[in-house]
Amino acid sequence: MTLVGLAVGAVLAVVAVFIPWLPDQASREAGLIDNTYWLVTIICVAVFAVVAGVSVYAVWKFRAPPGDLEDGSPIHGHTGLEIVWTVIPIALVMAIAVYSGVALAQAEDIPDDSRVVEVSAQQFAWRFTYPDVMLQGDQPLASGELVLPIDEAVEFRITSKDVIHSFWVPEWRMKQDAVQGITTKTVVTPTKLGTFPVICTELCGLGHAVMRAQARVLTRAEFDRWVEEQRRVAAEGASVQGKELFTQQCGSCHALADAETQGQVGPDLDNALQGKDEEFIRTSIVDPNAQIAQGYQPDVMPQDYEQTLPGPQLDGLVEYLVEETQGGG
Ligand code: CUA
Repeated sequence: MTLVGLAVGAVLAVVAVFIPWLPDQASREAGLIDNTYWLVTIICVAVFAVVAGVSVYAVWKFRAPPGDLEDGSPIHGHTGLEIVWTVIPIALVMAIAVYSGVALAQAEDIPDDSRVVEVSAQQFAWRFTYPDVMLQGDQPLASGELVLPIDEAVEFRITSKDVIHSFWVPEWRMKQDAVQGITTKTVVTPTKLGTFPVICTELCGLGHAVMRAQARVLTRAEFDRWVEEQRRVAAEGASVQGKELFTQQCGSCHALADAETQGQVGPDLDNALQGKDEEFIRTSIVDPNAQIAQGYQPDVMPQDYEQTLPGPQLDGLVEYLVEETQGGG
């Protein structure tokens, strides 16, 4: 019986391993996480196959014939069997604990020379700040898109401005909560070029499902070009920056034709702001509850943009929206 169970378990485990269930492995850490996952899965499949096989066989083999109402034969137990079914699970659980402990320690080891990126989560957007990359003045580079060079370790310092969110790029596997008031950390070394989704994996409110950003992994030369481009954009007019800020920060909740955003959580700004003056637009950003568009709820939009957006960025955003919605842009 046990042999049959083990054979079935082995076949199922092989089938399970060869179907590509998981996303691409695009970081150094992904292999460690996946190996742990598969170790546990294989053990679980084997144990399940043995237990289910023995149970089904016993029900079929030892069933009472019709009309047999006698007691079963008295059984005292089997010391050898009990030792076996205690020792094997202990060994399996210990193996899982040691293996995953080592994998986690390796995956979470932050190299000294890693690049720091600060991740700020907020209902319902991500903001990535590069404290080591300065624009002119002493403004660090900040972006709604996560852009990284390949094969360089990145230490993410993660926090939230409101409720609990969770930072996750499935292809990188590493996942970490974003919690207001504390800074959590995780480390990722991207090993594949390409574009990957940044996903919020903690139910955080109405816009949770749209709380996504993009992670782009570039070659070192492309990354340096991107940094230069950001410096150039920062040196340009305020409304150009305002548009970029809008696309990255506001677009997941608000539709605006010029920025090509389609967010549905908040009002469509082509309509809601049509013909409104600068004061109305500024108030709507810094004090969104002052006037709620018909059909929408108060308290959905963050009310702290006055504190969280640096003054010039807020000015640029207002300037951009005034241009767009008064037909001047
Ligand atoms: Cu933020 Cu879900």
